[in-house]
Amino acid sequence: MSVPTPAPTLIRDGARVRILDQTALPHHRVTLDLDSLDAVAHAIRAMQVRGAPLIGATAACGVALALHDAADDATLEHALTVLGATRPTAVNLHWALDRMARVLRPLPPEARFEAAAREADAIIAEDIATNAAIGQHGLALIADIAARRPGPVRVMTHCNAGWLATLGHGTALAPVYAAQAAGIAVEVWVSETRPRNQGLLTAWELREAGIAHRLIADNAAGLLMARGEVDLVITGADRVAANGDTANKVGTYLKALAAADNGVPFYIAAPRSTIDFACPDGAAIPIEERDGDEVRVLHGLDTGGGTAQLRIAPADTAVGNPAFDVTPAAHITAIITEHGVFAPGALATLAS
Ligand code: MRU
Repeated sequence: MSVPTPAPTLIRDGARVRILDQTALPHHRVTLDLDSLDAVAHAIRAMQVRGAPLIGATAACGVALALHDAADDATLEHALTVLGATRPTAVNLHWALDRMARVLRPLPPEARFEAAAREADAIIAEDIATNAAIGQHGLALIADIAARRPGPVRVMTHCNAGWLATLGHGTALAPVYAAQAAGIAVEVWVSETRPRNQGLLTAWELREAGIAHRLIADNAAGLLMARGEVDLVITGADRVAANGDTANKVGTYLKALAAADNGVPFYIAAPRSTIDFACPDGAAIPIEERDGDEVRVLHGLDTGGGTAQLRIAPADTAVGNPAFDVTPAAHITAIITEHGVFAPGALATLAS
């Protein structure tokens, strides 16, 4: 059985970019039409679109959109600057913008819109293929565990690195979808992922796909690993440094520590475009600090017809809200890419 095609997270259509508004999920399926550079930048900043590969592709579409009516040098540079400033950690954003800039800067303005549209479409198509390849490489790891023990393979993940975060089947969830298609039983531990609760998106995706899963509070992960109830951990990544240190959603590091302490294999699934060879190690990865109200206020409460918010801490409560953390390479068993599975110390072979 092949992996079912997910609903598109992003559609580029001339002077418009249509997105699935992830801030309305899991309660409501809302599509938004973005028709200006500022609307695209806002969607990325406000996390209406999110997940490293999807952020990169959305930014590429935003460049094309910005060039629809005028494509002089100033317009192009303005679009690259505005989009480049939206979110700092996911390197796919900068990878996509650099790729657009390399193609577009040498061209005369009248050729730029068509070329931008082509390049954005290529980034989208490549991400779909990349997700599929990551799925197959990760499937081999899951199949290996299934062959050695009875019962479903118990995968733990963090945040959302499924189809909502990409253009295809996701990164960390691609092996899970591939296992389901191959007839291998899997059960996924889905951690809630405070403060933005991207785990709810993962649980929603898995429910839609009919894959067994259990939503857990973030702090339950260590106990489950200590009890031997997790066969492997797979998470996505926002930026992998040259030495294999990996930035991903805050809380990933604690899972890696618990995995190391309990002998649970810990995998990162990420495309080559997430590896930043200009970043020597994790200390050089910029970590996004987001608004304190993400911690003080619970978002996304279902009101039946819409969503509401609930303040859980007074507005003047001092807050720290780093959106990502860095897992040292020493705690990562391997990185699953579209080119194969690599020990963190062996990424150099992918550099050229
Ligand atoms: O802040 P987000 O929701 O954009 O963060 C997303 C993550 O950290 C994902 O795990 C990562 O981008 C991989 S997505 C395939």
